[in-house]
Amino acid sequence: RKTLADMDLQGKIVLTRVDINVPVEDGRVTDATRIERIKPTVDAILDAGGKPVLLAHFDRPKGKVVPEMSLSVTRDALSQVLGRDVTFAADCIGPVARAAIDALAPGQVLLLENTRFHPGEEKNDPAFAAELAKLGDVYCNDAFSAAHRAHASTEALARLLPACAGLLMEAELKALETALAQPERPVVAVVGGAKVSTKLDLLGNLIPRVDAIVIGGGMANTFLAAQGIDVGKSLCEHDLASTAREIMGRADAANCRLILPVDVVVAREFKAGAASETVPATACPPDAMILDAGPDSVAQVIAAFEDAKTLVWNGPLGAFEIPPFNAATDAAARAAADLTAAGRLMSVAGGGDTVAALNASGAAGKFSYVSTAGGAFLEWLEGKTLPGVAALG
Ligand code: 3PG
Repeated sequence: RKTLADMDLQGKIVLTRVDINVPVEDGRVTDATRIERIKPTVDAILDAGGKPVLLAHFDRPKGKVVPEMSLSVTRDALSQVLGRDVTFAADCIGPVARAAIDALAPGQVLLLENTRFHPGEEKNDPAFAAELAKLGDVYCNDAFSAAHRAHASTEALARLLPACAGLLMEAELKALETALAQPERPVVAVVGGAKVSTKLDLLGNLIPRVDAIVIGGGMANTFLAAQGIDVGKSLCEHDLASTAREIMGRADAANCRLILPVDVVVAREFKAGAASETVPATACPPDAMILDAGPDSVAQVIAAFEDAKTLVWNGPLGAFEIPPFNAATDAAARAAADLTAAGRLMSVAGGGDTVAALNASGAAGKFSYVSTAGGAFLEWLEGKTLPGVAALG
């Protein structure tokens, strides 16, 4: 796979696939992290004499022009974060895009309209990819977080122009490879979230590769129930009991320790400030639900972090969106951050909820690497080939 440094960009139009699928409220970008993370690539292209033309999707307009899903909403934030004049073209192909490219002045950045306004994007249509390719000289993919999609702007286009990975794409891949392909052992993974059913492939891929897995969030309830423990009214996939037992057997055979909660925080209602109590994991009252891991469980998780050299984190330990059920996630995240800052742990985290939880705990800044990716991070951890990465060679 080529990098920006391998390409001659002088005077070239560089079609740069970025992921600026950022949260927006009332017409304003509320979290510019993904924009901040593409700045090094845009700067590098400009420094090398290239003309950056940004290609991106926004939301899911399903192949139609949906004005509320126009990428123009990101223009001010882009301009501010990049510290550049950002021009905008109301189409990503055809004469409108061409005219905007021709008008690009030195030092400017051009943003093209949402690629998903065209049905050919999600179909990975060669004809649509050819329309995109016509506009530029070089293709740079800096959208790791969209690389699990085999779409025209992430996949087919890479085969039509001299292609390379951008700096963020490189950084994401390097962090994941360091954490999982050739990690310093022991490796501990945190796998949390509501449902085991969405994490089966992830657990299957991690078990032979890591030394311990902390199971957190609602999915831990399914594992507790699979051992005959009454979890009351907790979120639980009872129909997956035998699958959970089979996973425990596989982990045992692979010498991978599964760390389940030993104590839990329970409440009768799921709302901010709800009355809660801590009980042993075996003693959830029948009319209560488990909403977080308890302090003994957190101590166990921190001990596992202290024994480890590498940490991969995907998914919260409790219902972190509603305090006080963020306590376990916060405490574990802070411990991981401190161990990382002390040089004792290499820590990588990713996934939409995970990053939100780590940001809320204030720990994210001290992790070795926090991915910008949600679905793509998960698919990488599942061992799947990401089409957008594969297309770069
Ligand atoms: C994301 O936000 O995870 C990426 O931009 C991919 O978006 P998608 O799930 O709509 O393909």
